[in-house]
Amino acid sequence: MASNHESTRISYSSSESLKARSELFERLQNYQATPEEMERSLGLFVRGSLLARFFGIREVYEKIVNKPGIIIDLGTWRGQTAVLCENLRAIFEPLHLNRRIVCFDTFEGYKGFSSKDKPSEIHKDGTYKVQQDYAIYLQDLLEIHEKNNAMGHNFGKHKVLKGDCREKLKEFFATNSHEVVALAFFDVNSYDPTLKSFEMIYDRLVPGGIVAFWQLTRESIPAEGMVYATEIMQKYKHEIFRSQFYPGLCYIKKEGI
Ligand SMILES: C[S@@+](CC[C@H](N)C(=O)[O-])C[C@H]1O[C@@H](n2cnc3c(N)ncnc32)[C@H](O)[C@@H]1O
Repeated sequence: MASNHESTRISYSSSESLKARSELFERLQNYQATPEEMERSLGLFVRGSLLARFFGIREVYEKIVNKPGIIIDLGTWRGQTAVLCENLRAIFEPLHLNRRIVCFDTFEGYKGFSSKDKPSEIHKDGTYKVQQDYAIYLQDLLEIHEKNNAMGHNFGKHKVLKGDCREKLKEFFATNSHEVVALAFFDVNSYDPTLKSFEMIYDRLVPGGIVAFWQLTRESIPAEGMVYATEIMQKYKHEIFRSQFYPGLCYIKKEGI
């Protein structure tokens, strides 16, 4: 049964291409090959628009390779961005074992919609809930990726923190006063959590560090746009860019102080 959130309900694709997407996925599930052959042939089934998302993450990652600091995936959901970042770490900076990734999510879906937002049937508290114990699953999965990568004996670098990001970020920075941030991906999509998290993260963002927003210009999901237009643009010195490969992804670079 289809899940009730915008990634399954809102699409720029035509019905033909959505049908082709289903066909591709069905072929993945029914592919005839040995497990070894299948394991190394997964690219057969990665559709172009998903590949563009991977490229967008890579584009942003490249900007912070020469910057110190952790990576935050805020609103990690199933953790795909975090997993790709661990793999990009291993490709672009295999010896950089201090590039910790910290994932934040309630894992119980959106939390923090208020009168500032436009709640709808699919944008409301609870959307994107995943199965119980998913935080533990994701923590393990990140470790397995680390073990697969160069210098894989150094695993267990990354953290998955479950709860409202406004509280968890506060706790994280209070108990980790040494941590600075090189890159943060934002995707929590309600006004107050986006604003409060931005304020906390920007205080720890290194000069030249990046904050990336998945939904900055989406009309149907206006929280990031509102926070940017009414707060960030006025109060924080930065440059802004749009991803070359994944047009919805926008990112700001903190100006040196
Ligand atoms: C659109 S999904 C994220 C998709 C993910 N970034 C990706 O690229 O696949 C939004 C996520 O934000 C999480 N979220 C929403 N509000 C939150 C809050 N206040 N604190 C922590 N997580 C929150 C939801 O649980 C959900 O998993």
